[in-house]
Amino acid sequence: MREIIDPHTHVLPKMDDGSRGTVMSIEMLKRMKAMGITVVCGTSHYYRRDESIREFCERREAALDRLSEVLTDDLPRVIPGSEVAFFHGISEEEDLEMLCYEGTRTLLLEMPFTDWTSSNVDEVRSLVLDRRLNLILAHPERFLFSKSNKEYLRRLAEMNIYFQVNGENFTSFFTRKEGLEILKMTPRRLLGSDAHNTEKRPPNLDAARSYVSRKMGAEELERIDEAACRLILGT
Ligand SMILES: [Fe+2]
Repeated sequence: MREIIDPHTHVLPKMDDGSRGTVMSIEMLKRMKAMGITVVCGTSHYYRRDESIREFCERREAALDRLSEVLTDDLPRVIPGSEVAFFHGISEEEDLEMLCYEGTRTLLLEMPFTDWTSSNVDEVRSLVLDRRLNLILAHPERFLFSKSNKEYLRRLAEMNIYFQVNGENFTSFFTRKEGLEILKMTPRRLLGSDAHNTEKRPPNLDAARSYVSRKMGAEELERIDEAACRLILGT
């Protein structure tokens, strides 16, 4: 049976503005399991201004250890990763590979919530072309507030970069059409929950998966799952 992966969550306890402790992490994992998810990536926020990559990885290991103590076999497997906030010089950062999903060269990148510059986009290109990373762009739909970002996204969509659209787009009648549009910007697409907690930003991939399956077909959902397996599990 194929693994169903959630590539973007803040399930690791007390790492960032996500899960506030192991009890909440377990509740999130239970809900994800009920949605058919078998592998959950703990992609805690990494901010260059706050800590070094090594410090972040040490904290993450401790969080994963705490979670492992209470994680039971019936729950989804948790894989460490990170959601790396873009920073100037990222393409030349020596330790960047440590932020990839464990055991891969796949990086989840969060672009700045500003108007992007051409030098920002050049660095993103360099991550793919020079650094040879598999790049996943976290929630591109959240950057569409600017016309120039939209144009940059169109250009990035032509490269070997995956667009990971958030599940929350598909939980509301008012945003799901837009979610679908951005999914259609590229053939390289993924769905992630970006779940932070059990309250305002809960696990939500069930709505996204059924909407995409309805509108794009069950085969397309399968392609999305296959891509996630390839990028994150290497299978
Ligand atoms: Fe996130």
